[in-house]
Amino acid sequence: MFKKLPGDQVSGLVSTTPDTAVVFRPAVVQTPAILTFLIFLGRLITGTVRLIWRHPVALAVPTVPVLLGWLYGWQAALITVTVPLSIVIAWALHDRDSFNHWIGRRLLAWWRLIWVYRRHWQSVMIVSGLGRHLRGRDYLPRLMRVRCTSWADEVTVKMIAGQSATDWSDRIEHLAHGFGARSCRVSIARAGRLLLTFPRQDPLAVPLPAVPIPEEAAVGPVEIGTREDGTPYRLKVHGTHVLIAGATGAGKGSFLWSTVRGLLPAVWAGLVEVWALDPKLMELSYGRELFTRYAADPAECADLLDEAVSVMQKRAGRFAGVQRSHTATVEDPFVLVLVDEVAFLTAYQSDKQLRHRISAALATLTTQGRAVGVGVMAALQDPRKEVMNIRNLFPDKIALRLDESEQVDMVLGDGARDRGALADHISPVPEIGAGVAYVRLEASPDPVRVRAAYVSDADIRAMVAAYAGWGEAA
Ligand SMILES: Nc1ncnc2c1ncn2[C@@H]1O[C@H](COP(=O)(O)OP(=O)(O)O)[C@@H](O)[C@H]1O
Ligand SMILES: [Mg+2]
Repeated sequence: MFKKLPGDQVSGLVSTTPDTAVVFRPAVVQTPAILTFLIFLGRLITGTVRLIWRHPVALAVPTVPVLLGWLYGWQAALITVTVPLSIVIAWALHDRDSFNHWIGRRLLAWWRLIWVYRRHWQSVMIVSGLGRHLRGRDYLPRLMRVRCTSWADEVTVKMIAGQSATDWSDRIEHLAHGFGARSCRVSIARAGRLLLTFPRQDPLAVPLPAVPIPEEAAVGPVEIGTREDGTPYRLKVHGTHVLIAGATGAGKGSFLWSTVRGLLPAVWAGLVEVWALDPKLMELSYGRELFTRYAADPAECADLLDEAVSVMQKRAGRFAGVQRSHTATVEDPFVLVLVDEVAFLTAYQSDKQLRHRISAALATLTTQGRAVGVGVMAALQDPRKEVMNIRNLFPDKIALRLDESEQVDMVLGDGARDRGALADHISPVPEIGAGVAYVRLEASPDPVRVRAAYVSDADIRAMVAAYAGWGEAA
């Protein structure tokens, strides 16, 4: 009647050694059947009470119509079904957002819990090695809860005691493929509990058109694209330095140009000056009219950087003892030093003296510029220390598509790739992957996937024309 467990065979075991006078027969205590049934009954009752306590609404939905139909005839049951159903359908058609928030996503979460996660839980856990099969029993992490957001499933799990978050982050690919998702992100919810994020759809799969030029002149965080969850991605530039790393064609340009675009009103208002260094002559030369200063030749670049250092030092002298942080004004505008392909000025520069001058100026700016309103935003292809020995002086780093998996941690810090920053897996097809990057936002150690809007040549021309028009009007 019951499944045989390993312990059940014990009573059949006898020692089989020949020539022994004594036969060992293990003592087996038989549990009376009534006891077993009582235990099962107890479990059934507690289970039912717990079910009613935990899911009153879900239980009421089928039981109320059945009960009413039984008491007052089928017409009553029909009314209790059709009236609420038509209200819910009308709601769904009329106001999809609030319907999704209150009902739609909860139903989806419930469906995905049973159809995707619970159904595959045991096999995925055992095959990936996160669960154990020991002496006929499964020891599995517990699937606690599934929540659906507009773009992803958030699954809370309770680890088996003794597991660590790294055990899970080492297996994000097993988890993603096991549950039919494109990727998986692991973060710690609290002691012993993890939050796994499985994206259902990708709002970043298509190129984003350039963000409209803001109305207001501000140096605050600049909106330059979209985050994975569909919300705007804003990049802080004032009071920090930003390093953008990405292979050729990864879309470093769209980060630079989106920043310039977002700061344009502030440039017009005189609150921001953009100084552009373009050693490859390919990227920033296109809109050089927009920049307060522009240099392409390495020697000119060195002069420009030295000048930025002297602006910074003069300001530091004036601010000393008066103010501790910078507020952009027309007298003391925020100076953003924009450097494309910075390695051409540092590592790949053949003139040794020039190379030292440039490296020293960059190091000085990045260590001391923040508080006096001088910021550096630099783009480069190869984030290795030999190429960019001052990469740790940039507080904010952005990892676009990279060639090697080791480079991800070089840019975003140790463990970033394990936490889901798969920058080496970003598609090299420009339509799908250019401008896609992983960043760390201030509040959290978990990397977030973003995509910068694409500022096309036509957009840049329009910006230049608008700038010229503004210059004449002023
Ligand atoms: N945000 C983006 N969205 C879509 N396509 C982009 C985006 N950024 C760049 N691209 C495409 O990728 C190509 C390479 O971009 P670019 O910025 O020049 O790369 P990088 O400077 O990193 O080598 C561009 O010509 C463009 O067609
Ligand atoms: Mg480029």
